[in-house]
Amino acid sequence: MLINNDTIIKDNDPLIRRKSADVVLPLSKEDRTLLMEMLKYVDDSTIPEIAEENNLRPAVGISAIQVGVPKKMTAIIIKDEEGNKECEYALVNPKIISNSVEKACLSSGEGCLSVTEEHEGYVYRSARVKVKAYDALKNEDIIIKAEGYLAIVLQHELDHFKGILFYDHINAKDPFHQDPGSIVIE
Ligand code: CO
Repeated sequence: MLINNDTIIKDNDPLIRRKSADVVLPLSKEDRTLLMEMLKYVDDSTIPEIAEENNLRPAVGISAIQVGVPKKMTAIIIKDEEGNKECEYALVNPKIISNSVEKACLSSGEGCLSVTEEHEGYVYRSARVKVKAYDALKNEDIIIKAEGYLAIVLQHELDHFKGILFYDHINAKDPFHQDPGSIVIE
């Protein structure tokens, strides 16, 4: 599948609101291929020369519904400033099994490959989450204990399975409402 900024489903398409279904395991060849293409998109998207040549918008994560497939699969790569991978996941059926009461948000707000317009404001999420998933890179069930940026990214991607977009969480009346006791991640 060709994944680029033209083929990614945007929020003007009702499909982006569709709920994703559990993926049948063991993973079919077709599902694995798609998930690996999604992972490659994320990896390539943050390499400027490749991104420019192939019309890729930089991202840390992408979920299958964003390429029109309503299945619970998501690919995430977080890199440091030198471009080294800090973490890399190709997740199947990821599920939050516990989350902190404490909230956190990114100081810069969030963005999404499916959202072209800017939506400014804080997106409060759980500061820490524990996610259970099948990892198609390790080929085993894993539990991710995440905090900080990764916790935010995981919750953003898992929201896509429910058809929820980041700006649904923004307080419309007061987008930069400071929630006392919440962490603001720089
Ligand atoms: Co998104």
